[in-house]
Amino acid sequence: MVDIASVVGRRVWDSRARPTVEVDVELADGAHGRAIAPAGASMGSGEAADLRDGGLAFGGLDVRKALASVAGPIASALKGMDAADQASVDATLLRLDGTAQFKHLGGNAAIATSLAVLRASAVSASLPLHAYLSEGRPVRIPVPEIQILGGGAHAGRRVDIQDFLVVCPSARSFAEALDRTAEVYRAAGKLLRDSGRLHGVADEGGFWPAFSTNEEGLELLLRAIEGAGYTPGDDVHIALDVAASDFGRDGRYKLGLEGRELDRDAMAEMLLGWLDRFPILSIEDPFAEDDPEGFRRFAKAVGSRVQIVGDDLLVTDADRIRHAAREGLVNCALIKPNQIGTVTGTKAAIDAARATGMAAIVSARSGETEDTAIVDLAVGWDAGQFKVGSIARGERTAKWNEMLRVEEALGAAAPYAGWGAFPMTKKGS
Ligand code: PGA
Ligand code: ZN
Repeated sequence: MVDIASVVGRRVWDSRARPTVEVDVELADGAHGRAIAPAGASMGSGEAADLRDGGLAFGGLDVRKALASVAGPIASALKGMDAADQASVDATLLRLDGTAQFKHLGGNAAIATSLAVLRASAVSASLPLHAYLSEGRPVRIPVPEIQILGGGAHAGRRVDIQDFLVVCPSARSFAEALDRTAEVYRAAGKLLRDSGRLHGVADEGGFWPAFSTNEEGLELLLRAIEGAGYTPGDDVHIALDVAASDFGRDGRYKLGLEGRELDRDAMAEMLLGWLDRFPILSIEDPFAEDDPEGFRRFAKAVGSRVQIVGDDLLVTDADRIRHAAREGLVNCALIKPNQIGTVTGTKAAIDAARATGMAAIVSARSGETEDTAIVDLAVGWDAGQFKVGSIARGERTAKWNEMLRVEEALGAAAPYAGWGAFPMTKKGS
């Protein structure tokens, strides 16, 4: 048992030049842990609250209220608690707040505190964080899903689909998956530049394209994979995050780029057409969070052909994951710690995914920092998949590069998850 000696918050900056919450935790034995809250842009309505001050400063996005939670109630309640008892620490945060969504303290204050306590405990136990979490159980290095083109809320809604990503389960290692991805990223950049369709770089480091249809993104990705010398659907697969909650409501989907509105069936038809014509392995939030019927019909039509990921639909909530499994809505859960606000809640979500036979992806947010805790969560909890945005920009490469170090350090003790991360597919079963 090692007591928490102090909890100190400060305001730092994220990758969108927005304020965010950093927390330092010090234990009685001198061990120190630090964590920074990330922030989403296309958020599910069921997420833990991202508490912001409002007003004029920084577009209303200042975090002084959340920092006051850390300096006041959180620091007083946690001082003297056993840092290794993460469940009690997290239960205390929930009790202090009084709401499951951290509406009073702020989910940003809660997750930064919870992760900082976790880090300090690992330091106190003289273990790398992933080893502290795995407790000697076998783990794998996760398969990365990496963004090549960014759209949706991360690129001025220039393309409706939020992420066009690549995924390489057939690589022999995480390092090799990154190699392939970097070549595809370069090829995609050249194709866009040469055709005058490059607008810059979106929030997560992927290229910000100027297309006239969403499907152009898939066509470009296919040509980039081939242009880099790889076989699509063999060396490199495609993944999409449709993030449909951002443009869908009441079963209707407004494709701003194409100036048309689709009902649930037409939306499903469009996506199924893409699955027929492109080597898509994974598709996230294909329908809006208020459209479980869309998910249900799609999952039925697709069967085990593809991974269907729930992000806004599940918001890293164990109960929602179990419900979605019972209803047959998705076969993979996206796991974002700040959606639920605590380490314990995040672990419960990934455990629920596993218990119901779902795959899991530990994921960053579009607003990120140099914090790499999710690398350790993905490895230590053996998530199987890992999603951090593109292969450009420091807040993204901080995570990829840390995973490279972990892969090197663990060597043969932690094999690349490969196809095994996709149990819903024939190759993964
Ligand atoms: P967000 O998007 O972090 O902006 O919510 C990421 C995602 O939708 O997966
Ligand atoms: Zn998403």
